[in-house]
Order: sequence, then structure tokens, then C-alpha cells
Amino acid sequence: MKRGFFITLEGGEGSGKSTQGKRLADHFRSRGRDVVLTREPGGTPQGEALRALLVRGDTGTWSPASEAMLMSAAREVHVRTVIAPAIAAGALVISDRFMDSTRVYQGHAGGVPADVIAALERAAVGDCVPDLTLIFDLSAEEGLARATSRGSDCEDRFERKGRDFHDKLRDGFHAIALAEPHRCVLIDAAQDLDAVQAAVLKAVEARLHG
Ligand code: TMP
Repeated sequence: MKRGFFITLEGGEGSGKSTQGKRLADHFRSRGRDVVLTREPGGTPQGEALRALLVRGDTGTWSPASEAMLMSAAREVHVRTVIAPAIAAGALVISDRFMDSTRVYQGHAGGVPADVIAALERAAVGDCVPDLTLIFDLSAEEGLARATSRGSDCEDRFERKGRDFHDKLRDGFHAIALAEPHRCVLIDAAQDLDAVQAAVLKAVEARLHG
């Protein structure tokens, strides 16, 4: 059976990646492709339970190091039980956030040393590295305004981490896009929804058929 394809969607708060993930999944499902749309933290019962602990409450509930370990624990289960089997079965797997969120939120912005992040990534991801990572690029100001206006379902622990933290997120994602151009494509998320979708589809088609 032909190996599937693994896409991850990354970016700061309010960047529209979840909306675009659903659109992308619908697009390929309507063409008969087997699609698995999943998310992090989450994607498994264990991951969803950890998500509930991580995204709510006071900003200081967890240190960046403890976040990195919990996100990585959830990721190891997600990769082993959902993502890798789906790719092996030929599916198009789309994950709303993955390893780059840990590199950026806990590493670049959170201050966890790069060697610690790299070791956790090796343990959780192994060789299940995304074929394509779409980085939804938006200023922290606009992203936080969007995230606030969509209303809170209390999953706002990271949103409340302060403006400086959110500016660092954008820098961190830019640095990854620059360092790994073969894997990452920056998407201008300030455009309207349809324009963003067109950019997403262009990037995906180019990699799928390229
Ligand atoms: P979401 O807003 O995309 O649903 O993600 C939930 C929050 O979790 C978001 O604020 C980013 C954060 N997060 C990390 O800090 N590190 C990670 O590794 C992941 C996957 C998410």
C-alpha cells in the first residue's frame, strides 16, 4: 500500500489554522481521499485528558519545562497509536499543531534549552517527521485580537501569557521556516479566509504531486 502524507499546521494564537485544517480535510475527503484530521494537545483519549490540564487555569500552573514533558508524552501516544498507523495505511494525516509548537512555545518563547526540546522530540516523534508544515503567519496583535473576539471556552492559559511571549512565538516560527525550507511553508494568515485557503492548497498540491 502506498504510504500516506503527513501535514502539520502551526502558528500563534488566532492564526486561523484550525479553520483551514477543516477546509483542507473537506477538500481532500470530497475527492475521495482518506483523511485523518487530528490535533495537539489531543488526538487520543490520553492527549485530550492532558489537554484539559494544560490549556486551562493560571498561566503559572505549569512551568515551560513541565509543559514540554506533558506535551511530549501526549505526542508519543498520538504518534504511536494514531498518526504513524494512519500514514502507514495510506491516509492524508493533518495535525493541528505538532512538534514545532513545543519548539516555539516551550523552547524559543518559554526558555527550555534546545537540547532538552530536541531530546523530548526524538523520544516522542522518532522518524515520524511531517512531510509538510504550514506555518500560519500573523502579528501577535492581530492574532490575539482574533482569539479574544472568538470568545473564550476557558482554553486560554497560553493566550494570557503576555504580549512579549506572543511576539517571541512569531520569531520562533519564522526561524523554523528559515532553517527548514524543504519542510516548511509560511502562509500569510492576514489575508481573507478564501485567499488563505488558496495558498494552503497551492502549497499542499505542490508537495503532494511534486
Ligand atoms: P490550540 O490553541 O491550537 O488549540 O492549542 C492549544 C494551546 O496549546 C496553544 O495555546 C498552544 C499550546 N501548545 C503548546 O504550548 N505546546 C505544544 O506543543 C502544543 C501542541 C500546543
